[in-house]
Amino acid sequence: MSHSPMPSSPAAMERGAYNRNSSVQESGSAPALPLFESAARAVDLPAPPAPIVIADYGASQGHNSFGPMAAAIRALRERTAPEQAISIVHTDLPGNDFSALFQALASDPQSYLRADPYTFASAVGRSFYEQLLPAASVTLGWSSWAVQWLSRAPAAIPDHVQVACSRDAAVKEQYLRQAAEDWRMFLRQRGRELRSGGRLVILTMALTDQGDFGYRPVLAALYGALQTLVDAGFLKAEELHRMAVPTVGRGKSQLLAPFQDGRFEGLEIEQAEVFLEPDAIWERYERDGDASAFAARWAGFCRASVMPTLALALDGASGAGREAEFLDRVEHGMARILAEKPEKSVIPLASISLRKR
Ligand SMILES: C[S@@+](CC[C@H](N)C(=O)[O-])C[C@H]1O[C@@H](n2cnc3c(N)ncnc32)[C@H](O)[C@@H]1O
Repeated sequence: MSHSPMPSSPAAMERGAYNRNSSVQESGSAPALPLFESAARAVDLPAPPAPIVIADYGASQGHNSFGPMAAAIRALRERTAPEQAISIVHTDLPGNDFSALFQALASDPQSYLRADPYTFASAVGRSFYEQLLPAASVTLGWSSWAVQWLSRAPAAIPDHVQVACSRDAAVKEQYLRQAAEDWRMFLRQRGRELRSGGRLVILTMALTDQGDFGYRPVLAALYGALQTLVDAGFLKAEELHRMAVPTVGRGKSQLLAPFQDGRFEGLEIEQAEVFLEPDAIWERYERDGDASAFAARWAGFCRASVMPTLALALDGASGAGREAEFLDRVEHGMARILAEKPEKSVIPLASISLRKR
């Protein structure tokens, strides 16, 4: 198989689409917010006039970072002079829609720039599997819903687009190895960037104690919609075979594995927890009974988060028209399947708080 390159940003293809379709991620990050606020209260601060640097790893189009950044700024301002500069660096892959991010910083009512004149925003377009910022320069780090994206798809998945739904043991093993390697690499780079006494809070997709990745009805609808497109002759079987979403959930033992001696790359675990996020889309359906709205919300979630990555596997000469039609048809196909039998999804997440010695 041709190994997929590093995924282009899932949100890169449709302007602002992620900011409009990521309420699942926004509410899923809420349990990590108190950890980030505690980190901001406890972190060792650089002496003024040196700026306090906050790095946001995997920011996408920015909206979902504004709450966490504002909470950290408020907590820091209880400890600093009002004019000590806070530098917030949003990072993502080079293909990310950084224009949407800068526009949101300027005009989103929740933008933290409105509240604090000595806070400055910037961005880095480079993979977080590399060192992004100078050694020992970062005071606080935040990463939500991002480190589940692997640096590459290590193998084709013969029977699905999400490895968690595959029955192929050899392929699952390759993804497991890649996930362990990438997790160590992510931590290694953050260990370099964080100052001594710095803190990093991560929210990521996880596995339940039983090893379940979750999202079963949604993933079944996604694959079902893709197969329908093959049956209809719109999608070639080879194109479907090339499609993979290189994301993984990691269980608590996988997340803790690098810290065998209590420390890894100078980082120590302050707190680590796997929890189940309530399925807010399902809860809304239980209240209003609107199956079409339920289906449209989950299909919109997939369109903004994973479908652009699948579209990268379309034949090179497909052109923008076919890509747009692909996104529309998968979204509508998913919505049709999901509306027939609405089901609740399991949403396993992990929150981890780390401290640099
Ligand atoms: C689901 S979005 C999360 C956005 C936001 N943090 C949130 O909580 O909603 C995942 C983001 O991680 C980014 N990402 C994936 N792999 C990455 C990598 N290797 N380096 C930097 N960013 C990456 C994607 O481009 C995407 O914008």
